[in-house]
Amino acid sequence: MKRLSIFVSGNGTNLQRIAEYFLEDYDTRIVNVVCNNPKAYAIERAKKLRIPVKMVGKQEFNSAAFVKEMQDLGIDLIVLAGFLWKIPEELVKAFPNKIVNIHPALLPKYGGKGFYGEHVHEAVVAAKEPYSGITVHYVNELYDSGEIIMQAQVRLDEKETPDSLAAKIHKLEQAYFPVAIDYVLRSQN
Ligand code: GAR
Repeated sequence: MKRLSIFVSGNGTNLQRIAEYFLEDYDTRIVNVVCNNPKAYAIERAKKLRIPVKMVGKQEFNSAAFVKEMQDLGIDLIVLAGFLWKIPEELVKAFPNKIVNIHPALLPKYGGKGFYGEHVHEAVVAAKEPYSGITVHYVNELYDSGEIIMQAQVRLDEKETPDSLAAKIHKLEQAYFPVAIDYVLRSQN
């Protein structure tokens, strides 16, 4: 049995899709959802999906007690699905190659602090990039710079707007993020 923990900060569309993808996979279970934003719609989604939600503040999130709690839960993989806080070094060390993130651009471009959600798409459109996409990567102590697991790309149109690009990226995330997680789980020994 593989045990997942999913960290969220916002809408939770990725959480929803991942939960649906693994619904009938009895070897994989989403043990909890960790959320840092009381206003996140992801909380409602988790409740409907009957997944326990753990709300965290900055202090608790950065504590040794939180690392221990995650270890005690026997988590095999932490999935950052639109989670906007930096992951503390202690948690990275406790879960080596066991934390993955999705980023809505083709890293190493358009990554790092401040590049999240629509800010990424605005920058990509402003720079008239021919392509954007998604990157699933392992998490290390720095923002958006761990080893890349997979990327998928999409072409920008002449009249692309940040909103239209966001819709394209959303489709890529829905199609590929759960598959990438599945692949990582199956590759673990
Ligand atoms: C997703 O597009 C994800 O790639 C992005 O936040 C969105 C969350 O959507 N993540 C980042 O920007 C991380 N730097 P969701 O809450 O609907 O899954």
